[in-house]
Amino acid sequence: MEKTKIILDCDPGHDDAVAIMLAAREPSLELLGVSVVAGNQTLENTQRNARNVLQWLGANIPVYAGCDRPMVRDKVIAADIHGSTGLDGPVFPPLTKKLEPEHAVQFLIRSLLESEGDITVVTTGPMTNLAMAMRLEPRITEKIRRIVLMGGSFTNGNVTPAAEFNIIADAEAASVCFRSGRPITMVGLDVTRKALCYPEIVERMGRIGNRASNLFVALMGHFCKTQKQVFGWEGGPLHDPVTIAYLIDPEVLVTKPMNVQIDIRSTQSYGRTNCDYYGYQKLPPTADVAVDIDVARFWDIVETGLRRYSEA
Ligand code: RIB
Ligand code: CA
Repeated sequence: MEKTKIILDCDPGHDDAVAIMLAAREPSLELLGVSVVAGNQTLENTQRNARNVLQWLGANIPVYAGCDRPMVRDKVIAADIHGSTGLDGPVFPPLTKKLEPEHAVQFLIRSLLESEGDITVVTTGPMTNLAMAMRLEPRITEKIRRIVLMGGSFTNGNVTPAAEFNIIADAEAASVCFRSGRPITMVGLDVTRKALCYPEIVERMGRIGNRASNLFVALMGHFCKTQKQVFGWEGGPLHDPVTIAYLIDPEVLVTKPMNVQIDIRSTQSYGRTNCDYYGYQKLPPTADVAVDIDVARFWDIVETGLRRYSEA
């Protein structure tokens, strides 16, 4: 089976951590590296969190720290959801896994330039690293096989009524990526808000009883509590892993090509992904936007992914 080569650019973040879990042992994927960006928390926290998760999983995947702030706007974090560390809840052993010395933007540039144009870049945080890489070295743009992002919404946001966190946290970066001309799959709140991690899901994954499922339970203990406090969700929407689940089994999502443009001009709607759902502007599509999700199939993918850590 030919593996899909991916780079996961993320801001761990509880749901990012589950995306890392699914990607690190998936036989159909080759996770070349985890690049980290400021987002849910500061870069100092998100890069440490990525290293802790991979060390806990025993996954020998390099971690690269990237940009510690957005391209233009001021930094914003989501401590209300992810806590002061960005990964509140789990307790990790002393961290020995080292950070790679190469900046994440340089890692993206080097990996893409050296590639055969067969790397899919998955972003589950603000798109700063990828946008900066395209600006620093435009030659990489045509080498990106596809961008699969968790971000945006063709309905409501979760930071403002208009905008979702990963986009509003660096709308200029998102605009650079959406105008790159590369194939894009946008996995927005419209589908991730259906992937609700109810208590019975946590119990189901906890019964697996390995290091990944134990970490999943510890992560959800905090994540679901804050999601209920902030949004009233009975189960936390597990946003980021939906991107990985889609790469593992594209049938888990229904997508629709749309022209998507990022609002970087207005104040009230800054960071909105303006998705022309009905195509009435007659503009060319710029992204395949997820419009529905097979929720049962998604949780089966998650369970299968966690079970892979029971194998030697
Ligand atoms: O809006 C949800 C997204 O913002 C997720 O990626 C979450 O981890 C945060 O980064
Ligand atoms: Ca994230």
